[in-house]
Amino acid sequence: MDKFVIRGGNPLLGTIRVSGAKNSALPCMSAAILTEDEVVLENIPQVRDIETERKLLTSMGAEVELGYGRAQHRTTICCRTLSDPVAKYEIVKTMRASSLVLGPLVARCGVARVAQPGGCAIGDRPIDLHLKGLELMGATIVQEHGYLEARAQRLKGAHIVFDKVTVTGTEDLLMAAVLAEGETLMENCALEPEVTDLAALLTAMGACIQGAGTSTIHVQGVSKLHGAKRRIHPDRIEAGTFLIAGAITGGDLVVANCQPAHLSAVISKLEACGARIEALGPDSLRVRGDGPLHENDVSTEEYPGFPTDMQAQYMALATQAEGTSTVKENIFENRFMHVGEMVRMGANIRVDGRTATVRGKTPLSAAAVMCSDLRASAPLILAALVADGESILDRVYHVDRGYERIEEKLRGVGAQIRRMGNVFGNGKKA
Ligand code: UD1
Repeated sequence: MDKFVIRGGNPLLGTIRVSGAKNSALPCMSAAILTEDEVVLENIPQVRDIETERKLLTSMGAEVELGYGRAQHRTTICCRTLSDPVAKYEIVKTMRASSLVLGPLVARCGVARVAQPGGCAIGDRPIDLHLKGLELMGATIVQEHGYLEARAQRLKGAHIVFDKVTVTGTEDLLMAAVLAEGETLMENCALEPEVTDLAALLTAMGACIQGAGTSTIHVQGVSKLHGAKRRIHPDRIEAGTFLIAGAITGGDLVVANCQPAHLSAVISKLEACGARIEALGPDSLRVRGDGPLHENDVSTEEYPGFPTDMQAQYMALATQAEGTSTVKENIFENRFMHVGEMVRMGANIRVDGRTATVRGKTPLSAAAVMCSDLRASAPLILAALVADGESILDRVYHVDRGYERIEEKLRGVGAQIRRMGNVFGNGKKA
């Protein structure tokens, strides 16, 4: 198992580039199920979840070319033949986004068998709202042996009101609705840019969608979709992580190839803490951490609020800010798994239910720490970048699920970080 060895203390200087958004790429790859033609997606990030999605689609009979190169990270997907509309447990157990094939498979094939998702270990993360919506569209759903089986001759348009805002739930039902018979009205939808990205791809494929990016989406179902090409937008969580990396290390960092409009809540929070951020053109931000950081409270919300996927990174920053900050997690339960490891590095954090209280500024000292899931890993990297001494992060496969070659990117701007296979083991490289 790979580990990262990180020596703290270097300010990050220079330019770091953001990859395409994993959470846009995954639903867009699933959308290829809806047509017999080729779907071409560019700016695909080279991360493990994308490889899992490729395996998933291939196991169903799709042809998926996935190529990474200097010019283009591109995938071409052709779902002409979907001989086996099953998302097998062995493939999807590490990735909750597998539920994103449920809607498109029923819409296209009339049947879907999908293993109940695993993914990040944060709360029980139900998909009841996906299922409720599909039932309203006329699907019958049976749950047995760890699988969900959904069937419908042809889905019918419906009026769906989400009890709770759900990102992949909105995406899943949107993909079901585009091939349903008649009109679908979805209310209390997620506003996240990833929903808008997917809707733009579906529209390019011939779908009739209005209102994506607002809480009410109208879909007029069509009988067939065709192929299309789309460039995935930049990853706002990776960009936000780099902004914090610049600020926390006292660096001067240009975060290039990002979409500043998607980062408003993160930018204003970092500015409120004392980081200096300026736009350099339409797709670059410069962050400077040359002054003292000070406390500020944060509360996670659905987009356009402060993202839950940035909560843990913000907490790392708060350990280096003067004063007491509270961090409230409103979206998921059990999303404070990083706290124990950060405390081992010297952070002063107390958790009470969904609120963490961080007292700063505390010097951090390097330690051997363990990544427990994708989003709990990034703050450990950030903490290690400012800790005194050499930290070793174990189980970095969690990081690799969502961050493309992060150690190479950080090394390019001055961080002392390297990847090691099996550093404590038998001497053989893992
Ligand atoms: C997506 C993102 C994830 C991000 C999250 C919130 C992907 C692949 N993942 O996850 O990185 O952290 O949005 O921004 O895009 N819920 C239900 N029933 C459902 C569905 C959700 O109760 O059927 C609840 C969840 O338990 C959670 C809340 O709704 O409390 C939001 O979850 P949701 O938006 O669905 O998260 P994901 O789409 O899984």
